[in-house]
Amino acid sequence: MAGLRHELLRWYDQAARDLPWRRTRDPYAIWVSEVMLQQTRVETVIPYYERFLKRFPTPATLAAADEDAVLSHWSGLGYYRRARLLHAGVREVVERYGGRVPESAEDRRALPGVGRYTAGAIGSIAFDKPEPVVDGNVTRVLARLFGIDTPVGTAATTQRLWDEAARLVPGERPGALNQALMELGATVCTAQSPRCGACPVAADCVAHRRGVVDALPVARARKAPGAIALVAVVATSGKGRHRSVWLVRSEARLFGGLWGVPMVQRNGCGGDARAALREAGISARLAPEPAARVEHVLTHRRLRLEVFRATAARAEESDTRRCFTDAALEEVGVSTLTRRLLAAASPSRYTA
Ligand code: ADE
Repeated sequence: MAGLRHELLRWYDQAARDLPWRRTRDPYAIWVSEVMLQQTRVETVIPYYERFLKRFPTPATLAAADEDAVLSHWSGLGYYRRARLLHAGVREVVERYGGRVPESAEDRRALPGVGRYTAGAIGSIAFDKPEPVVDGNVTRVLARLFGIDTPVGTAATTQRLWDEAARLVPGERPGALNQALMELGATVCTAQSPRCGACPVAADCVAHRRGVVDALPVARARKAPGAIALVAVVATSGKGRHRSVWLVRSEARLFGGLWGVPMVQRNGCGGDARAALREAGISARLAPEPAARVEHVLTHRRLRLEVFRATAARAEESDTRRCFTDAALEEVGVSTLTRRLLAAASPSRYTA
């Protein structure tokens, strides 16, 4: 740990970018910078930070300002809730602490908008306290350095990251140590094309040693897409060799522009198949029960479909509604799902 800290600090002293908030130990100014830097890039933040502190140089001036004035100085940075919470937090500092940002971590954490990260950044950078910080950049650095291969964003991984950060931070210059981790993540240990050759701690890095730098950190698995329940109707006219199937198309459909069978979302109250036909402008003799159930997985959705048959279908042909013989069907683009639905309704006739 001592060796790691030493290398990180030595590197930081020669590699750190000269950023305006690194020239101050004023906890209020550091607070402003850290709130702005959440979700926003350093280059974007710099002019905002300078303008904001010129207009609101102290907690008292910010506390006295009305919300519109504060928001106008935030305008363009986005995430305006951050500005409102900063304003509320600073007002509390003025009311409860006479305008002095509390040195106690507990008191800082109790301020509106001040979470573990912001509290730790102010504590370590302004007050030299051994308080950890973990943000996106630090997460990447620590995950690689310690070979943390569990998905980020889970409670267990978050705990592990904060524990590792808390183990690293005690010692000389905790604020510089924390900023060294941030800086390393921002400039060397980047998400794409990390520059391990320029890294001061590559020799200690588990991911580097194992050749898995690009694989860490592990992103949290995306939640399985929620299923959408649909009802589809395969409506046919004629019989035997002369049978043809009615398809519709509209830009608004799930498969905009492709021909497909009439379909609606299931509303759970029954009558959906009838509604699908009505919406398609087709009258037909609808079977009382579904002929099949089909599950279909798209990139971002899972579809669960009930497929009904309908016969003796009648409708006017139009640009968006046509009756297809088997031969005509071969000529047009239909989705894999449509093929599956046709096959599910008439296995002897169509194949998916
Ligand atoms: N991102 C968040 N905090 C930062 C800081 N103090 N310096 C540079 N980038 C940061």
